[in-house]
Amino acid sequence: EKQGFKHFMLKEIYEQPGVVRTALETYINSAWTADSANTPLSPISLGLPADLLSGLEHLQIVACGTSWHAALVGKYLIEELANLPVMVQYASEFRYSPTPLIPNTLTIGVTQSGETADTLAALEMEQDRRAAHPDPRFAPRMLGITNRPESSLSRLIPHVIDTHAGIEIGVAATKTFTAQVMAFYFLAIDLAYRRQTLTSDRIEAILNGLHQLPAFIEQVLESQERYIEELAHEFNETQDFIFLGRGINFPIALEGALKLKEISYIHAEGYPAGEMKHGPIALLDAKVPVVAIAMPGSVYDKVLSNAQEAKARDAQLIGVVPMNDTDAQETFDRLLPVPVVDELLSPIVAVIPLQLLAYHIAARRGLDVDQPRNLAKSVTVE
Ligand code: M6R
Repeated sequence: EKQGFKHFMLKEIYEQPGVVRTALETYINSAWTADSANTPLSPISLGLPADLLSGLEHLQIVACGTSWHAALVGKYLIEELANLPVMVQYASEFRYSPTPLIPNTLTIGVTQSGETADTLAALEMEQDRRAAHPDPRFAPRMLGITNRPESSLSRLIPHVIDTHAGIEIGVAATKTFTAQVMAFYFLAIDLAYRRQTLTSDRIEAILNGLHQLPAFIEQVLESQERYIEELAHEFNETQDFIFLGRGINFPIALEGALKLKEISYIHAEGYPAGEMKHGPIALLDAKVPVVAIAMPGSVYDKVLSNAQEAKARDAQLIGVVPMNDTDAQETFDRLLPVPVVDELLSPIVAVIPLQLLAYHIAARRGLDVDQPRNLAKSVTVE
């Protein structure tokens, strides 16, 4: 069952290249090329009805926990690629403080289990209040992203994207997160294609980048695990961690912090790197390691300078950085190098070392990694 791995979580971390491959095979239309751009052939086949995705002005996404982090990555992708505004809400907040209705909105619920009570309740509330609206522009358009297409989610709303990650046993979501982010790549590209917001060359470049991801994840797993295990020995008594990221990797900072607190019981905060100087910088000293995600792209230099600000307060700096990058080597005390990819694809490679870090710190502390205290795999009560 664990196939030689000590815990399900580690096995599931290692299943991610396969999960990404399955997603690519399932949802990318392999017959599409940039040359077929003028034909009706679409690059992505999500199997959704055209009227669900056409004429949209706005998207809103509800989710909890790690699924909410995937939704935040999705927001960056859809806004950037399809030029549609996206609002991401905690389901537990949205259900009691819903936003005023916006016309022509697609509502997406992200839940790997399809059973999370708050997410289901938020979707039901939204579906009902839109169905009751007399103006058809406000009619409900609902979509789920789930790893369990046979769950309560599918009984509630008519259309879902199946993330095909396979059953996940560890309470900490790892491969299902990656699979949810993959679903958002496909949705964002599909919307961009329908709305003609990208050139066919750009679509082709993104698809090529997506196809490289499984091998890149394997490379990170192979090259990093032993070193991360050593790091975990060094930091297993640490009481607080700060995770910093910006842009599309801000949600990855949140996810790295959530993984660590959930299974190792170490206090960790994820923060947008530029916000550090507005408060959290006061926490920093030699006892608080800072993990910064510095991926090549629009905010790379900004993250490096935020990391230097932390270093000036004696923080020990761990960087998830591009391979063979001298700026990064000069800035950080410890390096977690990952292959260089398009900035939009970087969350998938950046999250892997953070999953391994959380795993090895928890395992080193002798904790029940797969069944952390006070947590259940799916939260079916409010
Ligand atoms: O099944 P869901 O995706 O709806 O679950 C949502 C959260 O409960 C879940 O992601 C939780 O935060 C994980 N244990 C995080 O690892």
